[in-house]
Amino acid sequence: VPREKEIYDTRCHDTGSESCPCFLADAGQCIACPVLRGEQDCDACAWGGVCVYDSYSRGDQAHTRRYIRAPIKSEKSTAAGLHCVTVHTPRHWSAELRQPGSFLMVKPPGSEETWACPMAVFSVASSGELSTIVYRERGPKTQQLARHLKTWEVAGPYRSGLLGVRRLNRAVDCDALILTSGTGQSLLPNILRRLNDNNCSVQIALDPGMDGAAYVVQALPEFAGSLSLIRLDAEIAGCRQESTAGIISSSSAPLVISLGSDHLHIKVGAALQRDRLWVASNNRIMVCAAGWCGACTVIRRDGSELRGCRADIAPEDVFWSGDWKGERDSR
Ligand code: FES
Repeated sequence: VPREKEIYDTRCHDTGSESCPCFLADAGQCIACPVLRGEQDCDACAWGGVCVYDSYSRGDQAHTRRYIRAPIKSEKSTAAGLHCVTVHTPRHWSAELRQPGSFLMVKPPGSEETWACPMAVFSVASSGELSTIVYRERGPKTQQLARHLKTWEVAGPYRSGLLGVRRLNRAVDCDALILTSGTGQSLLPNILRRLNDNNCSVQIALDPGMDGAAYVVQALPEFAGSLSLIRLDAEIAGCRQESTAGIISSSSAPLVISLGSDHLHIKVGAALQRDRLWVASNNRIMVCAAGWCGACTVIRRDGSELRGCRADIAPEDVFWSGDWKGERDSR
C-alpha cells in the first residue's frame, strides 16, 4: 500500500467515460478540468486519458444515464423491514456493477426522479443479468419501493459509492481492517473480491445492526483473514461488545474501511492516525446522482464545494469538522 500523508487528488468518477463531459462543463464546474472551471492552464490536471476540454470543445455529447424498466425476479423480506430484491439488469452493466462502490438509482415505476434512491449492488448473478439489492425500509422512498414489487425502474451503473476508492483499488499484498454495521454490509462482497484479487488479508468486524441480521455472511467469497460478529459501542445479546477506537488501535492494518452510517465514519475518523489510509461508504443524500440537483454537496475544509455523487474524494475531505454530527438517512 502506498502510505500517503496524502492529499488525495480529487477526480471525477466519470472522467473519460461515456458520461463525460457532462453539463457541469457547461456550468463551469467540471470536476476534472481546471480550464473548464475558468482557470488559465491545466497544470493541476492529473488525468492521463482523453482530454475533457478537447472533447467538450468538439461538442461531444455525453450519454446521460436513463431509467429503464427492471422486472423483479424475486423478493424476500423480514419483519424488521429488511428487503432482499433481485432485479433484471442489462448484461453489459455487470462488469461495472461488480466494482467496489457500484450502485444503482432505483425508483418505483412511473414516478418522478425525485423518488429515486441510491442502492448498493450486493451481488450480480453469474449470468450477468440479475442484480441483488438489500435495503432497509425507513422513510417514504423505501416504503414506496417496498409497495412495488413487480417492476422497478433503475439507472446506472454509478461508481461513487465509496469515498477514497482508489486507495482500495491500489492496495496490494497488505492487511485491511473493515468495520461495517447495518446495511453497510451490502458493500462488502464487491470490496472483498477486490482485496482477494490483490492478495490482501482482511479482518472484518461486523455489527449486524438493529435487527441482528448479518445477511452478508452467507454471500461472502472465501478470503484470507477473519470475521467477527460484534456490537460496536453498544450492548446486544449474543454479540461481543467492542469500541470502534479499541478495534482500530488493536489492528496495525494500513488500510481501514468503514461501511455504515456517518456516525460510524465520524468515530473511525476520530480514532485513525493520519498515516493510515481510510476508505468509507459514501452516504451523501443523492437525488439525481448526475451533478445537477446539489443534494449531495460536500463542503471541504477550504470552503470549496463538490458534488459528492460524481467527485472521487477522500473521507477526510468530508468528515473534517469536529462539529458535524453526520446526516441521518430517513429516505
Ligand atoms: S445527487 Fe444531485 S448533484 Fe449529486
